[in-house]
Amino acid sequence: MRTIFVTGGAGFIGSAFIRLVLREQPDVSIVDFDALTYAGNLENLEGIDDPRHVFVKGDICNREAVREALPKGCEAIFNFAAESHVDRSINSAYEFLRTNIIGTQILLDEARAEGVRRFIQVSTDEVMGSLPDDENEMFHEDSPLRPNSPYAASKAAAECIVRAARETHGVDSVITRCGNNYGPRQFPEKLIPVMIAKAMNDEPLTVYGDGKNVRDWIFVDDHCRAVWMAFEKGRSGEIYNIGARKELQNLEVVKDILDKLGKPHDLITFVPDRPGHDRRYAIDPTKTETEFGWRPETDWNKGLGMTIDWFIANQAWVDHIRSGEYREYHEQASGQYLKANPC
Ligand SMILES: NC(=O)c1ccc[n+]([C@@H]2O[C@H](COP(=O)([O-])OP(=O)(O)OC[C@H]3O[C@@H](n4cnc5c(N)ncnc54)[C@H](O)[C@@H]3O)[C@@H](O)[C@H]2O)c1
Repeated sequence: MRTIFVTGGAGFIGSAFIRLVLREQPDVSIVDFDALTYAGNLENLEGIDDPRHVFVKGDICNREAVREALPKGCEAIFNFAAESHVDRSINSAYEFLRTNIIGTQILLDEARAEGVRRFIQVSTDEVMGSLPDDENEMFHEDSPLRPNSPYAASKAAAECIVRAARETHGVDSVITRCGNNYGPRQFPEKLIPVMIAKAMNDEPLTVYGDGKNVRDWIFVDDHCRAVWMAFEKGRSGEIYNIGARKELQNLEVVKDILDKLGKPHDLITFVPDRPGHDRRYAIDPTKTETEFGWRPETDWNKGLGMTIDWFIANQAWVDHIRSGEYREYHEQASGQYLKANPC
């Protein structure tokens, strides 16, 4: 049995990654290490009843906790843990610098001390800043780092220290940079779950600026499959862009949601733009496609439909987050969880 260490595994993408690995890699067991911040949710792991999955509550900035949880002979660390919401980083950057930079450094140190074979840093296209509205321009792996939000700056810094750990200490590492994910269990503060919830309740759908900011969308499982391939097939020290070639203006996303729910477009209202709002992201995934043989499997139409269906069927999950009940669930469930799955 091969063992991997996944940080942030109670979050949106981390929990999807854990489900995917348990489903597709029968010889892999996972230590899932997550601080359960406001964005972490043990309900994201509900239904996973597999002795190959062990959840440990812990903070990646706590060196002792990381050391204790990191299993002997661990093959890889997948670092999904992060403060991830741009709007929150505008209000206060400190937690972003703490988790996204210091936490990454601690994981790298412990990976080196424990002889972990490979470190996978899950990064974002946002480190490369913003592109103009010119469809010939795309993000490539060698595009310059030009972060515009505190969130993006902290992720760019994390990339730099991952690189430094490799150059200085020989830590085998691969960086993946993905575009905007969507899918089940995305925290209901991000664009798509927010808009689904508002549309379902016939509330106004508020769109920043002129709504023409462009994002490159990918279904979460497709991202996770590419991250796994980066571990198995990636070349050490390389960066891999991950994207599904699905550029959409925010306004188009919101209209697609309204159409799928059979709601009128006049629910859309515009609010002043947010500071430093990147205009356009567009990822060239050619390197990932060529080296890994990876292709996205879920197109926008199908993926958005599946996402909306999930949110309709799991209203209790949303309600628990809105009411804060999921935090109480943590208090009750984490003890049971650890007992059921001793590390
Ligand atoms: N969401 C996207 O569209 C997107 C796109 C590209 C890259 N990414 C990257 O993917 C990763 C996961 O994103 P997400 O959308 O699932 O985020 P998320 O906010 O849903 O989940 C983050 C998880 O990290 C945990 N966490 C936060 N601070 C921690 C700490 N100090 N120690 C341990 N755990 C901690 C949280 O409890 C939560 O479970 C992030 O690194 C993010 O930068 C996200």
